[in-house]
Amino acid sequence: LLVLSYPLLFPTGSSTAQTVTQTQPDTSVRETETVTLHCKFDTSDTHYYLFWYKQPPGGEMSFIIRQEFYNQENATEDRFSVNFQKAKKSFGLRISDSRLEDAATYFCAFTGGTVT
Ligand SMILES: *[C@@H]1O[C@H](CO)[C@@H](O)[C@H](O)[C@H]1NC(C)=O
Repeated sequence: LLVLSYPLLFPTGSSTAQTVTQTQPDTSVRETETVTLHCKFDTSDTHYYLFWYKQPPGGEMSFIIRQEFYNQENATEDRFSVNFQKAKKSFGLRISDSRLEDAATYFCAFTGGTVT
């Protein structure tokens, strides 16, 4: 059994109006199960990138996966994939075949800009 925990909010620190919101309580999942962590974004930027990071207990934060705004497919990296729903402004992280090493705090993040 592993526990995935979430920060309440991960501010993006940008001058334009952009937010990402994580509103899910800590989640427990059994090994080998698939779990999806939720994250929503809100922006008026024309170009943006969405990221997921993980930080194990007592460990350092590391990059997992990136989704480009123009990508027509969900980004996939090993057992991790993004559930990118552009219209719903959501980009969940799907973890399949969960392992003990997945126990961590997961952060979603956003960076973007407008090209005129
Ligand atoms: C990602 O996967 C979800 C669930 O299968 C699907 O609803 C969504 O359209 C996919 N997004 C992209 C960009 O392919």
